Amino acid sequence: MSNTASASTGTEPLTLITGSGRGLGRALVAAALARGRRVVGLARSGAGALVETVELDLADAGAIAAVPGRLPAGPVDLVIHNAGVRGPVNGLDGVTPEAFGEVMSVNVLAPLLLTRALLPRLAPGATVVFISSRAGSCAEGADPDRDDLYGMSKAALNRGMVKLSQHHPQRFLALHPGWLRTDMGGGEADLDPAEAAEGLMEQIDDSGLPSGWFGDYAGAKVGW
Ligand SMILES: NC(=O)c1ccc[n+]([C@@H]2O[C@H](COP(=O)([O-])OP(=O)(O)OC[C@H]3O[C@@H](n4cnc5c(N)ncnc54)[C@H](OP(=O)(O)O)[C@@H]3O)[C@@H](O)[C@H]2O)c1
Repeated sequence: MSNTASASTGTEPLTLITGSGRGLGRALVAAALARGRRVVGLARSGAGALVETVELDLADAGAIAAVPGRLPAGPVDLVIHNAGVRGPVNGLDGVTPEAFGEVMSVNVLAPLLLTRALLPRLAPGATVVFISSRAGSCAEGADPDRDDLYGMSKAALNRGMVKLSQHHPQRFLALHPGWLRTDMGGGEADLDPAEAAEGLMEQIDDSGLPSGWFGDYAGAKVGW
């Protein structure tokens, strides 16, 4: 673990956030810290991190399995699977074995493997959030973008989230963060990541949202 500043050092439950070094993940770290949460980031590098960081490449299944043993002591009551890749943006031409492997590995397989590894550490009543996308919605995801693999990966992630909600007692949510001014979303996007992170934290804090929910940062349900 790289030892960067931690906002709190008590024995309160941990909040884990993947992709915590930049973009939405970094904004989620700040929003969680502002709520007094004890946050541990999971990122490929601890450089510039706002919190203590466990270094993790989500393409490495062995490293994912080792995460629980590298965390500080204490139960985990919130996991936010935020890290993701967009992959090719040229439609069917971009569907190569390599691109499929990377997009599905980081966006789908890694959050599922990490969830499984963390199950013994999850507090009763823990919430596990998958940062999804409206692009993964067959009902609402029609847009001109040709990020076909990305949309497929978020649809698969959503299905995995529902499966988890059916078979495990924790609360599982898939949340669309909006179109964000990040490296992935680009400068023309609608939302500052801090605004999205604030909305997402409000959704997470809303105990009325049931396990298996697919909604957006502002509380609206997203069609499957
Ligand atoms: N931006 C949007 O408009 C938008 C819209 C809908 C949904 N989303 C979703 O929101 C989430 C965050 O997106 P963003 O806009 O913040 O994206 P971003 O700016 O491109 O950041 C991506 C994050 O994922 C991490 N990551 C990628 N591959 C990784 C790997 N193999 N191992 C560990 N970390 C890895 C990156 O870490 P490094 O710094 O190490 O590369 C970075 O922290 C994603 O799940 C995305 O699909 C975004």
